[in-house]
Amino acid sequence: MQANRATLVKRGLLGIVIFLVVAQAVPYGRDHTNPPSVKEPEWDSDATRELVHRACFDCHSNQTHWPWYSNVAPVSWLVLRDVQQGRHAVNFTEFQFKQRRAKDASDEVSGGDMPPWFYVIMHPRAQLTKQERKALVSGLENTFE
Ligand code: HEC
Repeated sequence: MQANRATLVKRGLLGIVIFLVVAQAVPYGRDHTNPPSVKEPEWDSDATRELVHRACFDCHSNQTHWPWYSNVAPVSWLVLRDVQQGRHAVNFTEFQFKQRRAKDASDEVSGGDMPPWFYVIMHPRAQLTKQERKALVSGLENTFE
């Protein structure tokens, strides 16, 4: 019994290693281009911009900071998907285009949906104190509503 279990564990680990090696060969996830930043919204204050910069720009701007692990599959796939979908939803550096969903920004922050919790774990800089969160919510309201 014991030996069988050990064999199973070894096979499982080997399977994971093979998956990770093969995953690196998948081309998706490598595109880390930051297109030019064209136009930002007219922020109600520098403080609002600073908070948005800290907590939102990695996914909602063309100024994404790509960490080292964004080069390692399968994390790279998740990061790229977040940035693509985030930029598609609202892009704070392409504000020459209409960004209807920017109106939802204050609700997303007050409801705790943005920035996403898994992002904050990996980016302590994006962690907002209670006061900062309140300031960000009213800053977003003043800017977009
Ligand atoms: C880890 C990446 C990431 C970060 C950081 C992030 N977002 Fe998002 N955000 C997303 C993704 C992905 C979507 C698209 C979700 C969807 O379409 O269902 C989204 C959607 C949105 C939307 C549109 C919601 C809607 O349905 O109308 C708003 C507004 C938004 N985010 C605001 C913010 C604000 C404000 C911050 C900073 C406080 C922020 N986000 C931080 C990834 C992120």
